[in-house]
Amino acid sequence: MTLHELIARRIRLGGPLTTATFMELALYHPGLGYYSRAPRRTGRAGDFFTSVDVGPQFGALLARQLDEMYRLLGPSCADRFDVVEAGAANGQLARDILDTAESDFPALYRAIRLTLVEASAPARAAHLDTLGHHSRRLVASSDRMPDEVQGVILANELLDALPTHAVAMTADGLREIMVDVEEERFVERAAPPSTPDLARYLDRLDARLSPGGRGEVNLAAVEWVQDAARRLRLGFMLLIDYGHPAERLYSGSHSTGTLTTFRRHTTSTPVSDTEQQGGPPWLAHPGEQDITAHVDWTSIRTAAADEGLALLGLTDQTHFLLGLGALDNAPTGADTPSVRHRLALKTLVVPGGLGSTHHALMLGRGVGTPTLAGGAFKTRM
Ligand SMILES: C[S@@+](CC[C@H](N)C(=O)[O-])C[C@H]1O[C@@H](n2cnc3c(N)ncnc32)[C@H](O)[C@@H]1O
Repeated sequence: MTLHELIARRIRLGGPLTTATFMELALYHPGLGYYSRAPRRTGRAGDFFTSVDVGPQFGALLARQLDEMYRLLGPSCADRFDVVEAGAANGQLARDILDTAESDFPALYRAIRLTLVEASAPARAAHLDTLGHHSRRLVASSDRMPDEVQGVILANELLDALPTHAVAMTADGLREIMVDVEEERFVERAAPPSTPDLARYLDRLDARLSPGGRGEVNLAAVEWVQDAARRLRLGFMLLIDYGHPAERLYSGSHSTGTLTTFRRHTTSTPVSDTEQQGGPPWLAHPGEQDITAHVDWTSIRTAAADEGLALLGLTDQTHFLLGLGALDNAPTGADTPSVRHRLALKTLVVPGGLGSTHHALMLGRGVGTPTLAGGAFKTRM
């Protein structure tokens, strides 16, 4: 049975699905979901690029940030610095970080105890291969976070990939966007919210969707941050993703929501070509394309603060990487031809591209409120 047939059958038997449940099945159904069928979905041969696919430069710069974090933790942690990467895909970012740590930051390298947390089984199966000789630094490759972390929890483009609810403001008030099936096609259906948490989430933000407006409420992203924060006993959390503060995300500039699909480097936004394609793009081809939504940074940082984490910085990727020395003598990791190296840095940093769409949130527990190199240009949001 195809994933399309499986989801359609489930709807016929149990009624319409929330957007979050549809996304969970489309992306993570064991065996049939988009992420469950391949070790890595990004890069030239995949459907979209992340900063990791640009080259080893991103990981090399992150190694510098991790080294500063390691030194800030002081002598009591000199022999053990947990690096927990969540949403690690095939482990390429960890590989890039370790390459530079080994060559440029040997004390950090020796102290690293790496855990790669990844939902996709084929991606986990690739970890040892990707890490190569760095595998000796790997303590676990798992789909679950470790109980206790003393070091850093790191995630690049994880939160945007977590299944999100979607809502719309109608004449009857807040409605949830559900997924129904008509003949063989998936269609959107507005229904009373499946949980009061959706209205509570928007109320807490004082977010008012305008009539006809829609947006996403990513309860799973907030839960993920709460859970990760509880596991962080001492150290830092570094979350990098694309998103906006709530006041922008739930404003007129995003009134059609941000559910976006990526397929073979083609992007579709929530309602693009809805009529021509016979339905919203995010409902087409479940299991064959990525579905994402922009991150609500306000809720993420509030959830972290509620769990006792200190905000150390929230800045766009341009300023984050400049703070880490992207344009001066940045570490390069592996031998990189200099033109390619400079082009890669440009792609990562230049405003208007990844540098502006992506932001880095830096958090800490038990470390005071140091100004980290990545946050040296101060909070930009
Ligand atoms: C957009 S990809 C980003 C991959 C990589 N971090 C990068 O930047 O290239 C998101 C990854 O997160 C994984 N993922 C999704 N939910 C997860 C969860 N709850 N725990 C761990 N990994 C998860 C997906 O399987 C996928 O590999």
